[in-house]
Amino acid sequence: MTRTLCILALLSTAAAHASPLAASKLRTEYLTNPLAIDDPHPRLSWIIDSPERGARQSAYRIIVTSGVGTGATQLWDSGKVDSNETINIPYTGKPLAPQQRCDWKVQVWNGENKPGPWSTPAFFQTGLKTWSAEWISYKDDTPIHTSRKDLYLPAPRHYRKAFATAKKVRRATLYASALGIFDAYLNGKRISDAMFSPGWSDYKQRAYYRAFDATPFLKPGTNELSAIVAEGWYSGYVGYGLLVGYGPYKTGRSFYGKTPALLAQLELEMEDGSRTTIATNKTWQVATGPTLEADILMGETYDARLQPTNWQPAILASENPQAKAPFSDKGGDREIELSFHPPAKMQAYSGPPVRPIQELRATKITEPTPATYIYDLGQNFSGVARLKVKGPAGTRVRVRFGEMLHKDGRLMTENLRRARATDTYILKGDPNGETWTPRFTYHGFQFVELTGLPAKPALDAVTGIVVHSDTPLTSKFSTSDEMANQLFRNIVWTQRSNFVELPTDCPQRDERLGWTGDAQTYARSATYNADTASFYTKWLDDLEEAQRPNGAFPDYAPYPMQHGSPQYSWGTAWMDAGIIVPYTVYKAYGDTRVIERHWDSMTRFIEFRKKLSPDLHGTKTGNSWGDWLSIGSNTPLEFVDAAYFAWSAKLMSEMATAAGKPFDQTLYPRIRATFQQDYLKPDCSLSVNTQTAYVLALKYDLIPDNCRQASADKLAAMIAANNYHMTTGFLGTYPLLPVLSATGHHDLAVKMFQSREFPSWGYEVANGANSIWERWDSFTKEKGIHEPSMNSFSHYSFGAVVEWMFKTYAGIDTGDAGYKTIVIRPGEPSAGWVKAEYDSVRGMIVSNWRNTGQRYEAEITIPANTKATVYLPAKSAAGITLDGKPAQPKRMETGRAVFEIEAGTYRFSSK
Ligand code: BGC
Repeated sequence: MTRTLCILALLSTAAAHASPLAASKLRTEYLTNPLAIDDPHPRLSWIIDSPERGARQSAYRIIVTSGVGTGATQLWDSGKVDSNETINIPYTGKPLAPQQRCDWKVQVWNGENKPGPWSTPAFFQTGLKTWSAEWISYKDDTPIHTSRKDLYLPAPRHYRKAFATAKKVRRATLYASALGIFDAYLNGKRISDAMFSPGWSDYKQRAYYRAFDATPFLKPGTNELSAIVAEGWYSGYVGYGLLVGYGPYKTGRSFYGKTPALLAQLELEMEDGSRTTIATNKTWQVATGPTLEADILMGETYDARLQPTNWQPAILASENPQAKAPFSDKGGDREIELSFHPPAKMQAYSGPPVRPIQELRATKITEPTPATYIYDLGQNFSGVARLKVKGPAGTRVRVRFGEMLHKDGRLMTENLRRARATDTYILKGDPNGETWTPRFTYHGFQFVELTGLPAKPALDAVTGIVVHSDTPLTSKFSTSDEMANQLFRNIVWTQRSNFVELPTDCPQRDERLGWTGDAQTYARSATYNADTASFYTKWLDDLEEAQRPNGAFPDYAPYPMQHGSPQYSWGTAWMDAGIIVPYTVYKAYGDTRVIERHWDSMTRFIEFRKKLSPDLHGTKTGNSWGDWLSIGSNTPLEFVDAAYFAWSAKLMSEMATAAGKPFDQTLYPRIRATFQQDYLKPDCSLSVNTQTAYVLALKYDLIPDNCRQASADKLAAMIAANNYHMTTGFLGTYPLLPVLSATGHHDLAVKMFQSREFPSWGYEVANGANSIWERWDSFTKEKGIHEPSMNSFSHYSFGAVVEWMFKTYAGIDTGDAGYKTIVIRPGEPSAGWVKAEYDSVRGMIVSNWRNTGQRYEAEITIPANTKATVYLPAKSAAGITLDGKPAQPKRMETGRAVFEIEAGTYRFSSK
């Protein structure tokens, strides 16, 4: 028996003792027990969490039921299906009714065909199809605000309705939406911690609705359903509208409409099977409450003296026990208005909610000028500040937010541009102190400034509440270089700060838009750091909705206003997000439905691209963001465009194959050939002599094989000639290290990664960054803060190096889509060690390696049901061990011993 056979025998021996397997982490459409699923065939997923070597599911059986006890009906019994698939299995049982609760469980058989126990059940609820609720608003007789000088910040409206339930309620589900953003309450208790519901869409075309379980909040007898509705993205300030006077009234607000509205339908399912609906209509009441202003960019103002009214049903019950009084019969202060155009389409929200995720305590207070107190929360993040203050009634506490401090210790707010980012709390004078947390705004900050207090506040007067879309973190990374560890933390924080309802460019200034260029450079990185599947699923619908009539994907999505050149709403590499992001979701999560869902719009985009550049040379037109923020180098737009055209075509070809769609497979090779005619010289150099030109050409596989190495060597030489500094911007930087590592220049990639010189990741860290900055020198110890007109301290684009950190430095990549097969291929080991973990859609993948100088040691874990090809750095096959015993690789490739492994943990060592 050869040694290779020994290893295979080892795996099969493990399988012979295989224990029964159980499915866990059951999810529907990437969500845990979702309450509103629109799709008639929702996809079910689970993982098999087993430490056993070779753990493998050989079959599964899914049972879906509806109803309880004797009333339960079976909707689907998949029967035993011989398959090792665990993700995105479509429900194909009986047709689902609206608002149906579907309980499901799964049983799996192991590699020896032995059944395991049934999983803990999970459920999903189908969405609401028929709305008996009417959109309600209030009679808004304020004139249209046209001043760009003064902010217009109307008070959010409180809507309410009392109702009685005589029967015992089994299940209460609230379906609700708003033109604006809402918080819903039942009997004075907030029924969800989700913020900014229902989320941002093009409200003229489509609004999301949310579903909440209201059952625990109901009581026998009289109940009160209420909601507060603020302007949000619907009619509040959006983007830099204010800065440049965009929007219908050139005031930077009211892009979709003037007056917010509410749609709510509470569905009560009684114990006896009967149903009752409480829905918004003319009989509701509306009034203002203690929140005097609420705007995402500008901030919130709250007068607590107005709080213990019957119109404020314990808005913050936990923080204001006196406010628990039920509504009185007093009517509202306005008339309910029903006359306006509702969105054409309602859609269940498919993403994770934005919610408070974490609390940060202040680390210190300073007082740069008398009675101005600055709290340092120790971390740049997105969220709000919870106040705990004491003082006489009427005291106005002004709360301002900043990412940095000036040299003299004052708060730096200049880089927020026209985002006022100021909250105000007016005390009611409670001698025991009072607590307040805003609900309809968020800020990007590290420092909080309080003014207006009668005495120096305590350190716990301010708590940072970290707020973002609930995308659970999925990665860990540490290495022997402490700079890289800090960098990793900075990247993850910056991702969190910019995953707020949509992938934003930045969380602080008057922008916070879903810039598509930033999104496409960072998407693959994002999938390593967090479970972003449902987040992108949602945003891709917004992106498709924002597609321009000519087929281009716009500069940002949603797209409330035009920016850049008045002629163009799109630009090279930004618009390609419409192909790259769906492809990324497909690749990282094994999701082919995302391809099917957006196939038509992606096809329209490719047609647009073909029209734009019929001769396939690329275009010079469109918004020329190009290699944005490159340093002292300019790669012509036409070149960049040709590269992106090729790349989009190539990804389309791959997606077409994956989803069985027709596509012109000659498009990519034709663009590639044209590109070579246009730019490739006989000596394998390019006629455009920038680092970015080489990086794009190599990354997007535009250089023929016989020239690849020479071109890559040229790139490496250019970098060396520039003192090992990059000149690349948004587009050139994220593929830079991957290209170097893939072309025999991994040492150079590591050198640049570990550099502390400008421009580099280490330079930022050395200058004290705890987040990723828009510019490498957003702040330097010598020069201080870069000029503020475009200087965000939370911009994820340059953090896209994390893709290389996982894929190449640690060596974790997907083979086929969705990590069914895995590639473990760390770059040639530099000195030191790396520990990386990635919780994939099929379970945990670990790649730990250490270079001791004499030996290379690697500990690899892959989850059940997967296989990995491990490319172990090794001079030769001699002396390789697996779990301490001599082992023979399947084959040797240049400097790599190749092993094929199945689920489990393996300890390799080589010379
Ligand atoms: C944003 C960028 C964006 C760019 C377009 C900026 O203001 O912050 O990240 O991609 O505009 O050039």
